[in-house]
Parts: sequence; C-alpha cells; structure tokens
Amino acid sequence: MKILVTGGTGYIGSHTCVELIQKGHEVIILDNLYNSSIDVLDKIETITGVRPKFYKTDILDKEGLDKVFAENDFEAVIHFAGYKAVGESVAIPLTYYENNIAGSINLYQMMKKYKVRNLVFSSSATVYGDDFEVPFKEEYGLGTTTNPYGTTKKMNEMIITDMNKAEPENSGVLLRYFNPIGAHESGLIGEIPNGIPNNLVPYIAQVAAGQRDFLRVWGNDYDTVDGTGVRDYIHVVDLAKAHVKAIEYAATHKGTEVINIGTGKGYSVLQVLHAYEKACGYPIPYKIMERRPGDIATCYADTAKAEKLLGFKAQYDIDKMCEDSYRFTRKLKM
Ligand code: NAD
Ligand code: UFG
Repeated sequence: MKILVTGGTGYIGSHTCVELIQKGHEVIILDNLYNSSIDVLDKIETITGVRPKFYKTDILDKEGLDKVFAENDFEAVIHFAGYKAVGESVAIPLTYYENNIAGSINLYQMMKKYKVRNLVFSSSATVYGDDFEVPFKEEYGLGTTTNPYGTTKKMNEMIITDMNKAEPENSGVLLRYFNPIGAHESGLIGEIPNGIPNNLVPYIAQVAAGQRDFLRVWGNDYDTVDGTGVRDYIHVVDLAKAHVKAIEYAATHKGTEVINIGTGKGYSVLQVLHAYEKACGYPIPYKIMERRPGDIATCYADTAKAEKLLGFKAQYDIDKMCEDSYRFTRKLKM
C-alpha cells in the first residue's frame, strides 16, 4: 500500500515506517520537524535499505497538505503528527487544540477531498481517564480526561467516528497506546526527549547515562505491589508492528474500531527501575517524592480485542525494552 505517515520522523512514527517498509509498503513521510530530526531518514534507510520520500510540511498548512495529496495517490494515512506533552498542554492549551485538532481536521478534509479512505490514528490510554477499573476495555468508551492533551485525543476519536458515520466507505482504526518505551534493536532510532524528560524511562535513561543525579519516584503510597505507580509498558517495535496490522485491517474493513495496544501486564516504577539496572549493569539512584498531581495508581490494557481483530500480541518483555532503551541512549552519547 502507498501510505502517508504524518509525524513519521518522530519516535513512534520512525519505528512504524521501518516495519511498514520491511513489510513491503511504500511510505511517504510528512513532518514539520518540530520534535524530530531529518537525520532519522538516514537511519530508516540504513535499517531498511529504502529512503522514504519526505515532505517538510505542517498539518496546519492547508495548501502544503493539498500539494502533498495532489502529488501522491495515497491509499491510507497513519496520523502521528501532534504535540504530546501533558504538562505543556495545561500551560498552553490553545496551541495544543490548534495543532492536534485544527491540524488533524485539515488532514481529514484532505483525505475526504482526495478520497483516501483508510486511517489509523494515534490515540492514548489517557482517554480512559480515572473513571474505570483495570484492565481498561475498549467498550468502556471515553472517560473524563484530565488535561488538554488527553482531550485532544478524545476529540479526535469523536471527530473520526462522526466523519466515518457520514462516509460509510471510510475506515478508521483508533489505536489507544499504553506506555511505549524502548528503541529499535539497531540502536539507530529511539526517543530523544526535549528538555527534562517527563516520562519514566527517558528519565531513568538519563540518570543511567550520568546526565541526572537520581530518579524522582512520584509517590510510594499507591495501592500497588510496592506502592509505586503501575503502567503497561510496550516495546515501541511491538507498537510499530501493531500499526502495520491496523492499516492492513483498515484497508479491508469499513467503519471505525477502537483498539488498545499494550501488553496487558503492569509494572511498577521500581520494577522498571530494577529491569533497567539489569540492562545497564549498575545501580540507578532514586528518591521517593510526593505523588505527581493527575497520576493514577494503575493502568493496563485488556488486549483481547487487538488479538481478535488484528491478530496482534506484543512479543517483547520489560527486560528487552530496557536493554534496547539503554543501547540507544549509550549510542547517542558516543
Ligand atoms: P513525537 O513527538 O516523537 O512525534 C510526533 C511527530 O509529529 C514529530 O516528529 C513532530 O515533529 C511532528 N509534528 C508535530 N506537530 C506537527 C505538525 N503540526 N505538522 C507536522 N508534523 C508535526 O511523538 P511520538 O511519541 O512519536 O508520538 C506520536 C503520536 O502518538 C502523537 O500523536 C502522540 O500524541 C501519540 N501518543 C504517544 C504516546 C507516547 O507515550 N509517546 C502515547 C500515546 C499516544
Ligand atoms: N514516574 C516517576 N518518575 C518520573 C516519571 C514518571 O516516578 O520521573 C512514574 C509516574 O508517576 C507513573 C509512571 O512513572 O507512575 C509512568 O509515568 P509516565 O510519565 O512515563 O507515563 P504516564 O502513564 O503518566 O503517561 C503516559 C504518556 C501520556 C499519556 C498517558 C496515558 O506519557 O502521554 O501515558 O496513560 F497520556
């Protein structure tokens, strides 16, 4: 299939491009390089032997988008482009709504104009909010989001669902990611956080690399195995493979499906820390701090629907996630 990947030089997008190319799909990347580097194209080429066509275009630029669609006969779109920092979204909500909502609507309008009917969208487990019992099931629907970033994901899910009801020929797969971590086994692509990392594994990686003194563990008084927060971490390469299955599903089915992508297993902050220590071979200092506002105790996926509809099951365990993250971080320093 000829697939437009928005945000394709970013963290999850770049891994997905690799898996798509390796499965024989033609990938065209669109990214404004706000949070990624053009060098990623070299890395994708090194891994796959194929250099994807690239457009440095902003999804807020309607004319630019039109040109990209006019020049290519896309069969499908995987839409990653967007801002993703929860804290920042609270500080500058309008910027988040503009980029993640207005930008996405521009893209969907272009898909309508050029009759590109198959879409996979990057949603997040954050749309469940704090309303439901774990494991989170797709049938729960949308919960109460706690920040503008989460609300942009929820609104995109609603927009795509309405759009596809109005256009029954359309197909949309809304993937609700749990916590993607790790990097490509080659050590060539991975997550490069901007500024102080907010997420657990990028922060641990910087402590392990000597860039930060210790991990701040946000609370150890939750009702969990050791009192620290529990999440469903998924290897980014597994997540990328789920996108290949999702876009192939979209191309052969109509309507809209919401699908969780996680492993179905939860690990606590200290369990992840210890797995990382095993990967790097030395202890990683940490301090217990107050709870972080807005955090929930436990979040993990019910993965039955992904298995049933997509035939997808995550392969990699927490040790492999930490090993690959560590390899990527070490290469970055060299
Ligand atoms: P990322 O920041 O690495 O990738 C996003 C890419 O989109 C970047 O390359 C950025 O330059 C580009 N982009 C941003 N705004 C753009 C615009 N207006 N026009 C064109 N390009 C633009 O993020 P990621 O971790 O790869 O996440 C990809 C998607 O998955 C995002 O939509 C994110 O919200 C979603 N998601 C991520 C996580 C996670 O933990 N990483 C979890 C759930 C959902
Ligand atoms: N944590 C720490 N110290 C840190 C960072 C995180 O103890 O420095 C803890 C958190 O308190 C939480 C766990 O590690 O218990 C995971 O935190 P992350 O920030 O890595 O991930 P979250 O689950 O909070 O958030 C992620 C994505 C969001 C998304 C959300 C949906 O980053 O974009 O999942 O569930 F909205």
